[in-house]
Parts: sequence; C-alpha cells; structure tokens
Amino acid sequence: MFRRWFLCFIAVQLTCVAAPPAVEQQARALQTVLRQADDAYYNQNRSVMSDAAYDALRKQYDQLLADYPELAAANPVGAPVDGSARRVTHDASVLSLDKVYSDKEVGRFLQQTGTNLLYCIEPKIDGLTVILRYRNGQLVQALTRGDGKIGVDITPAVLASGMVPSALTNAPTQLDVRGEALLPLPAFESLNRRRAESGQAPLKNPRNIASGTLMLTDYTEIARRRLEFQCFELLATDSLPSTHTAALALVKKAGLSVVESVAVPSTDVLAAIEDLNRRRATFHFITDGIVIKVDDLAVRDRLGATAHHPRSAIARKYEETPVQTRLLSVDWSRGTTGKLTPVARFEPVEIQGATVQSATLHNLDHLRSMDLKIGDWINVIRSGGTVPEITGICPERRTGQETAIPDPAE
Ligand code: IVH
Repeated sequence: MFRRWFLCFIAVQLTCVAAPPAVEQQARALQTVLRQADDAYYNQNRSVMSDAAYDALRKQYDQLLADYPELAAANPVGAPVDGSARRVTHDASVLSLDKVYSDKEVGRFLQQTGTNLLYCIEPKIDGLTVILRYRNGQLVQALTRGDGKIGVDITPAVLASGMVPSALTNAPTQLDVRGEALLPLPAFESLNRRRAESGQAPLKNPRNIASGTLMLTDYTEIARRRLEFQCFELLATDSLPSTHTAALALVKKAGLSVVESVAVPSTDVLAAIEDLNRRRATFHFITDGIVIKVDDLAVRDRLGATAHHPRSAIARKYEETPVQTRLLSVDWSRGTTGKLTPVARFEPVEIQGATVQSATLHNLDHLRSMDLKIGDWINVIRSGGTVPEITGICPERRTGQETAIPDPAE
C-alpha cells in the first residue's frame, strides 16, 4: 500500500517539474508573439511574419509546453500584459560611456589606462542598448537599459523584430550580452517611403525610431521595420575569455552579429580612429562617435568604474562641424498622396568626403521655424555622418539681398 502511494507521489513529482523563471519568461514572450501572429492570420487575413519564422517560434513554444505542462495553465491565452510587470531590475548597473571631443583627451585616456596595452576601436552605433539573455541557446529575456538600474522587458518585441535568432545552435549554457539595436539606413528610407505613401509625415531620426519600435505592441509593424542588432559587450558566460576581442569572437561563434572591432597598440589608436572616421559615411547605420576600450578584461576589471562609466573605455564623439554654403532654391516634392515636402538646393559643398547639394526641410513648419531666405548662407552637416541636414542660417552674413522663399505652386 505504502509502495503504491510512494510510486504515485514520485509520478506526480516527475510530471510537475516547476519551470525555472527564465523558462517562464521565455514562454510568456513566445506566447505573446504567437498570439498576435495567430490573431493577424486567422482574424485579419494578414501575416505578421514569414511562415518559417512562425514555425520556428511555434516549435519552441510547443517544446516548452511539452517539457513544462504547467506553463499552459500559468499563461492563459488572452492574459493582459501589465506595464508595471515589464520593469526588471538589472543584475548589475548598466553603465554609460564617458565622452571626449579631442585627440588630446584620447591621449590622456591612454595614459590613465596604461598605454602599454591593446585598445579596441569600434564605431559608436547610434541606436539603443539592448541586453539579451540566452540560456541553453534560447533567448529567454531582452531588456532595455532604462535608467541603468531598472530596465523594461522587451522580449516579445525583440522576438517579433527578428533582429536576433530566438534560438542559437552553437551557444554556451549561459550567454548574456549587451549590444545596440539599430534601424539600418535602407530600412529607415523605406519606412519613410511607406509613411509618405499613406500621407504620414516622415520620421527624422533612426535612433528614435529604433527605440520607439521596440516599445510597440503591434508585432506586425515591429517585424516590418527590419531592426538589426550588433553586440558590443559580453556580460556573462560559462567561462569568460581574457580579452574583449576573444569575447566578441565567442559571441559571433554563438551566432550573433557583433560590432566591427579592431585591437591596436596605443601608438596606433589615433590612426585607427581616423580610419573609422573616414569610413563612417559608408556604414549602413548612423554612428555618433568611436569607442576606445581596453582589450584586456583583467585590466578592465582592475580599472573599475565610476557610478556612471567604466574607466577602461571612452567615447570619442564627432564634432558635427557645420560647413557653410548658400541656399539657391527650395523645391517642393510631392509624394504619391499629394503631400508637399520642401527640399533645399544649395551650392555644392564637400562634407566628410562627399559632395552634398540638397537636404530635406521635412515640412512647412520646419521650414518656417528656420527663417530661411533664398541667398542665405546656411550651415550644413551630415547628420550621423550621412544624412545632409541644414542646422541653421548665418544671420551675420545677411546682406539684405536675400529673397523670400516662394510658396509652392498649386
Ligand atoms: S561599450 C559600459 N561599445 O553607447 C559601457 N557602447 O554612451 C559599455 N554604444 O549605452 C558600452 N556602440 O548603447 C559600447 N561599440 C560600442 C557602442 C556602444 C554604441 C552605445 C551603448 C551605450 C552608449 C554609451
């Protein structure tokens, strides 16, 4: 009798292995994405994602339910996602970077950190920090930086975005990484084309779009925006390598994209910065500087951090030095919906290796806010190293000969 009761007890225990919190999180995230994909497909006759992507996520979810049957009961279909439930305290403070604006300050940083070391030089991508946690190759959590102490759980949005694989086939048991979510420039342009076609104003800044996108709960829209992820830091893994270069190689081998990074001795740091600077306009994403990091992770740990930034890395920010030129005309370009966008034409100028002669003025309000006149001397930059942008006029160079910008011909 006792033996039968005992066997029953063991059988119940075996079928009710509690899911670890990370698995629960993953199940919740997968369920959110799948629920919306199903709703779109069955109720609205549209597809949120490709069949292959859907099948891969569905397979993972079914496997989780097979392994942990109680998850199905814990995550009833239709359970609302509570905003406050999405706030997560980070394991360790998510620090920022100290910024410098000159080669002299870079020299000071090299001296303070040791000089006789290798330094990694990387583009500073202008997107938003995302922290990813993989367990046994499965993406179980994605977080924003938030205030550095508390972030927001954006796992469903990251899964829907397709910016990283939901399952890695070659990953260590634990893989926690930090990287940048970004909107590639071609995706930015196609998003604005799509908006123009439906009569919406163009969006100005790929960084804001990337962060806004990951806060959406419309997973169809998230998937359409084609965000990308590039890892720039390995936070934790089964056995940490001894250099940042090896850490990025490990992350890459596990199946994630990593930022371009080159390790050089201190004597070559300025040349490596210059080289990245020259190639900046060829990147398919916006950068707002260059990051210089100590490669040796033991030295990094020894140097430690302030409450705000590590002492082993800095951001060399670009000065977006404006170039002056003269405004020749303002043309109006009409989108397919009939909406007019003002486009400035100016005397061609060379900025960071490219000749530019026109820039969008976005809309009538933007144009009026600048108080532009034909013949004005204007300041032009290549915003984020690529997109021509008029930042203002040079009022002191006005002669009185400037003329008002004609209204668009109807
Ligand atoms: S390293 C401890 N590397 O810049 C700080 N950051 O102002 C580790 N960023 O919040 C950051 N590209 O989101 C690092 N190659 C890169 C980066 C990068 C972009 C962002 C990152 C960070 C911000 C710091």
